Amino acid sequence: MAQAQPAAAPPPNWVASRHPLGWLIDRLLAVEPLRLLLFLQARQLIIRTAERRGIAWRARREELLQQAEPLLARSTDAATDTPPYYRARFHAYQQGNLCWQAAGEAEQATDAMALRVWPEESLQPQQAQARLRAAIFAAIEPSLSGPVHSALDIGCSVGVGTLALKDWLERREGTDVAVDGLDLSPQMLAVARVRDPEGRIRRWHHAAAEATGLPAASIDLITLQFVCHELPAEATRAVLREAARLLRPGGVVALVDQDPDSDVIRRLPAPIATLLKSTEPYLEAYFSLDLPEALEQAGFKEVLSQACDPRHRVLVAVR
Ligand SMILES: C[S@@+](CC[C@H](N)C(=O)[O-])C[C@H]1O[C@@H](n2cnc3c(N)ncnc32)[C@H](O)[C@@H]1O
Repeated sequence: MAQAQPAAAPPPNWVASRHPLGWLIDRLLAVEPLRLLLFLQARQLIIRTAERRGIAWRARREELLQQAEPLLARSTDAATDTPPYYRARFHAYQQGNLCWQAAGEAEQATDAMALRVWPEESLQPQQAQARLRAAIFAAIEPSLSGPVHSALDIGCSVGVGTLALKDWLERREGTDVAVDGLDLSPQMLAVARVRDPEGRIRRWHHAAAEATGLPAASIDLITLQFVCHELPAEATRAVLREAARLLRPGGVVALVDQDPDSDVIRRLPAPIATLLKSTEPYLEAYFSLDLPEALEQAGFKEVLSQACDPRHRVLVAVR
């Protein structure tokens, strides 16, 4: 059941640098050769596990990149400024989201993430992905008070969630819905174009989420699917202010990400938590920020929070 969120849960112990476990993990990761080793181990573990579960990690990367590389220029807006925090090392890639390897592996990583949500079940990657997205959209539905004519998927990466959003909205409306994707990584956007061969997404924007350059009060629904944990707190606040500017009155914003109240997340085994922390520079910032409060401060009302699966929650709010 959806419920109002009066206060944020404290960060899990393994995240919080004030907690002995979080502190210890931080000290380990501060030793650069050790951090690098863990970083590479995290990557190997992710690929091995994914391939065992039926995700053709390396073959798919080669296939996507061959088609995406010629699309880089079309996917780049030279006027877009990249904020310094965005150049951090994410997900076991030294160049973070700004490299071909990350872009060629994002679809596989998203499927692997969906499979991890239901580890006890023998789902195919696409079944897990469909279930993940269906639960997200079901959590958004009650906050929509009318038809959705236009939607923007911020932090769209290679478009897995953007295309799922488009499918859901078109089933809901029974007609075409203008859905755009926006991301700061031109490589991710080039892969998104490859994954959208019929051009179903109206535009793939290369822009910062906090300064999109898009017209005010022009959008009915904005989604940020698995984006906030990649942002420092000040960037999240700026992105929420921009979302408030872009939405029409009565428009809805939805943020999906790790659930601070999830038992699975709170009890992550220390070795896994260490590997995860070595690949996610802003996790502590994410878990320490009171997102419902930040939404209200950005001008949103009717903030609702709902667990959509055992690991994630959806926050929905109205402009
Ligand atoms: C984990 S991925 C999102 C996955 C995708 N939304 C999905 O649902 O499968 C996070 C994305 O957010 C993007 N991102 C992070 N900070 C951003 C910013 N300030 N502006 C635009 N995109 C950003 C990254 O480039 C990356 O593609």
